[in-house]
Amino acid sequence: MKKSMLISLICAVVLSFGVASMLYAVDAPGDDLIITAPEGMKVKPKGDQPGKLQKAVPFAHSKHESVECQHCHHMELDGNAYVLCTSSGCHDSLEFRDKENAKDIKLVENAFHDQCIECHKKLKKEEKPFGPTACGKCHTK
Ligand code: HEC
Ligand code: HEC
Ligand code: HEC
Repeated sequence: MKKSMLISLICAVVLSFGVASMLYAVDAPGDDLIITAPEGMKVKPKGDQPGKLQKAVPFAHSKHESVECQHCHHMELDGNAYVLCTSSGCHDSLEFRDKENAKDIKLVENAFHDQCIECHKKLKKEEKPFGPTACGKCHTK
């Protein structure tokens, strides 16, 4: 009797862990994801003309399966979803990049360029499959 109770207890614990991890597992979105500049993003003027935003950046999770989710989604889960990169308190600056904020990680531009371009460059150097490092190969949409 005691032994079977112990076994069912163990089963219950194992099962509830299974269910919990299923509830909290986050699925990667489809490859139609496009990363756009945040609403209200400012653009550096060109002389006396207003500047223009770069084209948006399509991002395929399926091409990044060799990279751990947490490498990019480096924050704790928010409930059972990932914290968005541009969430308040994260990469939430709407200023354009200039001399004084050239390294400020609050800028989405710096956050993405540091993560995306740096990895692609590193892989290229190591002669492994890599992603684009040129502006026009990412900013396509
Ligand atoms: C590996 C992909 C990648 C490459 C290469 C890349 N970018 Fe980006 N860039 C992004 C992503 C992602 C964002 C954030 C989404 C957005 O704002 O469009 C971004 C944001 C920006 C922004 C701020 C938002 C805007 O639209 O103005 C600027 C400016 C920018 N990039 C310029 C450049 C320039 C110039 C180059 C080449 C020297 C370049 N990027 C190369 C991925 C890339
Ligand atoms: C190479 C970087 C990278 C990797 C690796 C990565 N993601 Fe993402 N993921 C992103 C970016 C960038 C976005 C767009 C986030 C944003 O707009 O703030 C995103 C968006 C998402 C979203 C949508 C968020 C939302 O609510 O709109 C989910 C869900 C997600 N990823 C799950 C995953 C899972 C699961 C994995 C691992 C299997 C994974 N990602 C791996 C970069 C990555
Ligand atoms: C830790 C490494 C790593 C990071 C971070 C990373 N990438 Fe990549 N990326 C790769 C690799 C590896 C490939 C090549 C995959 C292949 O050829 O199968 C790739 C390929 C790509 C491609 C080409 C996909 C295609 O259709 O051939 C694009 C576009 C791209 N990455 C954009 C991004 C953007 C935007 C980010 C940042 C949000 C990012 N990557 C972050 C490793 C990375």
